[in-house]
Amino acid sequence: MDFYGRDFLRILDFNEAELRYMLDTARAFKELKQQKKSHKIFPNNNIAILFEKTSTRTRCSFEVAAHDLGMGVTYLDPTGSQMGHKESIADTARVLAKLYDGIEYRGFGQDVVETLAENSSVPVWNGLTDECHPTQVLADFLTIEEHFGKLKGLTLVFVGDARNNVANSLMAMSAKMGVNFIACGPEELRPNDKLVDECRAIAEQNGATITITSDLKELEGKADAIYADVWLSMGEDKKKWGERIEQLKKYQVTMDLMNRAKPTTIFLHALPSFHDLNTTVAREVNEEFGIAEMEVANEVFESDRSLVFDEAENRMHTIKAVMFLTMYKKEVK
Ligand code: CP
Ligand code: NVA
Repeated sequence: MDFYGRDFLRILDFNEAELRYMLDTARAFKELKQQKKSHKIFPNNNIAILFEKTSTRTRCSFEVAAHDLGMGVTYLDPTGSQMGHKESIADTARVLAKLYDGIEYRGFGQDVVETLAENSSVPVWNGLTDECHPTQVLADFLTIEEHFGKLKGLTLVFVGDARNNVANSLMAMSAKMGVNFIACGPEELRPNDKLVDECRAIAEQNGATITITSDLKELEGKADAIYADVWLSMGEDKKKWGERIEQLKKYQVTMDLMNRAKPTTIFLHALPSFHDLNTTVAREVNEEFGIAEMEVANEVFESDRSLVFDEAENRMHTIKAVMFLTMYKKEVK
């Protein structure tokens, strides 16, 4: 297995053994962190983290993980670089690769992160695009595995906007790891057929199934984990809130839905989540459309079946594993 110098752009770019190794490496780093054992493996390295969309977890995870590994970090915020408006993506990549040992990018099209990677001589890590959120699902699968003690044979159900970045990456990761995946949402928000076919072929080889449905009954008695995400993703037109609420309100994850799954079903969410009225966006939506909870009922979010904050912690351990694996050989020459 050779990770050195590779980019981390999509789950589909890695095979099962490699993804397994990433999860195991994350687990090892988590133990080191818990034991407060120093692991400053790259004291002479620096990374740039480039955000064209906002972030709490991904930014903080890259920063903490980089510091733990002994590296310096430069954060470029959504208005803080010339990229795109005054300097092309390709030129930005060539400049950053001269200064840094790794580049994280969060933004819009997957083509942007691909262009960065093509023009960078150092690893590029995808911190979320419109199409994928690969570092997120590594954390999700680590959380699932920690809880159930296994992955193979489990059933993960994504409920909601089933063609968004998180859902796409969950489907790919499920296929690779032999987890049955059910995407449950309205017809209009079905995942891309080509991606479904590709994931289904991989899942079949790994003894798992991919099901795309609009019927919530499909998860009854089956779901080991139910996953929700926001109904309107970053970068989407805010004018779409009304239409999206109409499409998705019956797909809210309620305690009744959790109970119809299995008594042991856990709840997962990438976060941030609109489960109450304690955010400006949720209050604005509430004022205009009269709903107080969106993709998940507060009762579920706050219950002991909800592992959302463990997932958030695991973002850091898994991101650390990705950085370490793609940078390591350089340091042991
Ligand atoms: N889940 C996630 O990516 O969170 P942030 O948007 O806060 O980084
Ligand atoms: N689908 C969400 C994920 C946020 C972590 C978004 O893109 O806004």
